[in-house]
Amino acid sequence: MEPTVNMCTCARFATFLAVFVCRFALVSSFLVGCKEENCGEPVIPPQALRIVGGHESISGSLPWTVMLVWCDFFRCGGAILSSQFILTAAHCFDEPRYPCFRLNSKETRHPSNWTVFAGKQNAIRSNTGEMMFEVEEIFIHPLYHNHSHRNDIALLRLKTNITYTSLIRPICLPTSSQVVADGQPCIVAGYGETLAAQTFSLNQVTVKVISDKVCTQPDWYGPSYYDPPEQFCAGFEHGGKDACDGDSGSPLVCDFDGKWYASGIVSKGFGCAAPKRPGVYTNVSYHDFWIRTTLAANVPGPLCLT
Ligand SMILES: *[C@@H]1O[C@H](CO)[C@@H](O)[C@H](O)[C@H]1NC(C)=O
Ligand SMILES: *[C@@H]1O[C@H](CO)[C@@H](O)[C@H](O)[C@H]1NC(C)=O
Ligand SMILES: *[C@@H]1O[C@H](CO)[C@@H](O)[C@H](O)[C@H]1NC(C)=O
Ligand SMILES: *[C@@H]1O[C@H](CO)[C@@H](O)[C@H](O)[C@H]1NC(C)=O
Repeated sequence: MEPTVNMCTCARFATFLAVFVCRFALVSSFLVGCKEENCGEPVIPPQALRIVGGHESISGSLPWTVMLVWCDFFRCGGAILSSQFILTAAHCFDEPRYPCFRLNSKETRHPSNWTVFAGKQNAIRSNTGEMMFEVEEIFIHPLYHNHSHRNDIALLRLKTNITYTSLIRPICLPTSSQVVADGQPCIVAGYGETLAAQTFSLNQVTVKVISDKVCTQPDWYGPSYYDPPEQFCAGFEHGGKDACDGDSGSPLVCDFDGKWYASGIVSKGFGCAAPKRPGVYTNVSYHDFWIRTTLAANVPGPLCLT
């Protein structure tokens, strides 16, 4: 009997290995020979590191930012990864508190009730150069957990390709080895709450990545509020600067050698900008494999992430 078991295990392992190698080859093959717009290089650079408090972004300096609208309501932010894909948070598709009155439904996982707006400087006013896209398909991470917000990541495939302009361009996707360092300043932007006057403008704030050692201390979040390395914290010990309600799904973008990368996704936090309660972000590098395989399996042509 023994050899049979071993053979079987061996065959299973070989299959697993073959599938893995095959997938890897598939993903790699999609990454070569691409001629899309360069990612992470806005025409106008974001006014990043010299700004202290949150403030309105300069139009066109965060051109990957999109607004996700469900049933006429602004619900989340997101980031353009390629001409067909948007990166956002899985919890944007949780059951909402209030139903959509037009449809008399709380169903948020139906792509046809979502709209993506790109090139928008203000959530409630339209501006020249903004564009609207319909959603073809929603991919929610299979291990997303709606209470802990673990694996809070989702991808949207658009019905039509985005045409890039100076106001609309993609962000770079970090590889699993391109990880943010403790203390690294990154930008988070959104149309959400500002705690001050609500302008619905695309506001940005610079926050610093906080180590898990600090963020899991008992007087911070403690050991069980978030789950490193799948999630990480960014903000400041004294608070004051943070992502807030309505910023969910927006990217935390970090500069690596002069290009901007979507290193995090706004996921959760306790209050907004409270001391020792920084924002908790989905670690995008951690999900590199899921993102790339999902994208590669769902594009008709070559996958362009440059
Ligand atoms: C969370 O998930 C559970 C079961 O998977 C479901 O019953 C519940 O409605 C979900 N909550 C939200 C807010 O989506
Ligand atoms: C929107 O969602 C509802 C379910 O709540 C679904 O029946 C409908 O087909 C969807 N699409 C549109 C365009 O209403
Ligand atoms: C994110 O995930 C990567 C890959 O698993 C890991 O190396 C890194 O330490 C994680 N944490 C942060 C803050 O990037
Ligand atoms: C969208 O772009 C991809 C390549 O990025 C291409 O393969 C595909 O044909 C395009 N689709 C349409 C409808 O133009």
